[in-house]
Amino acid sequence: MFSKEESIDLREKLIGESCQLFFRKNPLKIVRAQGQYMYDEKNDAYLDCINNVAHVGHCHPAVVKAGCDQMSLLNTNNRFLHDNILLCARKILNTLPENLSVCYFVNSGSEANDLALRLAQIHTGNKDVIALEHAYHGHLTSLIDISHYKFDLPGGVGQKEHVHVAPIPDTYRGKHRDSDHPSDRLGHLYAEEVKYLCDKIRETGKGVCAFIAESLVSCGGQVIPPRGYFNEVYDTVRSSGGVCIADEVQVGFGRIGKHWWAFQQYDVYPDIVTMGKPMGNGHPVACVVTTKEISDSFSKTGVEYFNTYGGNPVSCAIANAVFDTIEAENLRENAVVVGEYLLDNCQMLAKKHKAIGDVRGVGLFVGIDLVADRESREPDGRCAEFVHRRMREEHVLITIDGPHCNIIKFKPPMVFTKENVDAVVSTLDRVLKEYRETSELFAVNTAKAPPSGKATKEPQHRPIKSMLEKQKIKSI
Ligand SMILES: Cc1ncc(COP(=O)(O)O)c(C=O)c1O
Repeated sequence: MFSKEESIDLREKLIGESCQLFFRKNPLKIVRAQGQYMYDEKNDAYLDCINNVAHVGHCHPAVVKAGCDQMSLLNTNNRFLHDNILLCARKILNTLPENLSVCYFVNSGSEANDLALRLAQIHTGNKDVIALEHAYHGHLTSLIDISHYKFDLPGGVGQKEHVHVAPIPDTYRGKHRDSDHPSDRLGHLYAEEVKYLCDKIRETGKGVCAFIAESLVSCGGQVIPPRGYFNEVYDTVRSSGGVCIADEVQVGFGRIGKHWWAFQQYDVYPDIVTMGKPMGNGHPVACVVTTKEISDSFSKTGVEYFNTYGGNPVSCAIANAVFDTIEAENLRENAVVVGEYLLDNCQMLAKKHKAIGDVRGVGLFVGIDLVADRESREPDGRCAEFVHRRMREEHVLITIDGPHCNIIKFKPPMVFTKENVDAVVSTLDRVLKEYRETSELFAVNTAKAPPSGKATKEPQHRPIKSMLEKQKIKSI
């Protein structure tokens, strides 16, 4: 095995610089993982609050076995009849509204969204797409074009003519805020923004192709769109000739607990649903589900859809095992119980720390908005950077996201426990206290903000270490 230093050197030489690492200054070398824990080259454990892909837990034995068994029997493309793809399609369709009745299997969330756009274009005959501000839908050219999160960066490709960006329906720090409007108006106010774009497209003599949005906006900062928003948007988009695409790549497969898919909490019916990441628990498998009408429009073109690996027997065996594990281990119920516990505990923490401006979430999808000032809601990216680094030193892995890089994101494997929450929250409590003390010290000494990311104390590892010792996790 390469030493960590050798790995860093080789990585710099051999891998494209744009493929960035977490913790670039001191990257982690992870060599194995189990459940919600990841282990570095020294066998030190980290609590994983990041990996929504390892949905049923890293290296879940049932998923690993399903993949190995099928791999030793057959793997080929889906031009041959095989039961696994049919079983998988049936499992997916059983969780969705009846009108969503046709599946296309692909290999990644990006492929799923690209195919969704293609279906929408063929079905509607239109090209103009409405997507959300700060949204990310994948790395293919077609998706970078509609992902404000990427095309709008310095060095990004810029906004294409067929792309229209609607304000992110963030009621805490978006265009329309809960501090300025009654909460039951916010859905309508944000939906009006989409109506404005639909009207603008039609005024130029064109029609709408699609509205695409995550049902909960993850890269935009763990945003939960207000009630009524999607219902009104879907009606407007359809009456403008477009179809509605729900991107469930991050938030699907029961992450919100109460439902299999996050759009179901709003009582809306998308025309196309895309899914990926958690579907294979780390194995590349993804899917597009649509209506018979849209699928018929696609087949009427006469062009075959062939995807070499999409829906192969191994991928589908794995996806089937993921579904079975979610059910066998009641992981949706776990997401409800542990998610509520996480949310409650973070809200309690907000009572102690002024740096916490907002806590929001549903199931095991939770975000904390860090602010420099609660009144103005000024985002505090410096605090987020400090928390990110110090939590890692305490062996808790979190991510920071949102347009101001000030949102702590929790999207852990669905096997996360209340004990894990206790460890995370007590660590965060301590780290936020450190940040406050450091800020106060600097304010007194220099009347300046603290240098980003300087810890005042040595890492303690207490809650995580004692939790691991208690659970004898190291010996896995
Ligand atoms: C919401 C959303 N859609 C699509 C994608 C693309 O998925 P993939 O990276 O599997 O291509 C991502 C990836 O992060 C995503 O977050």
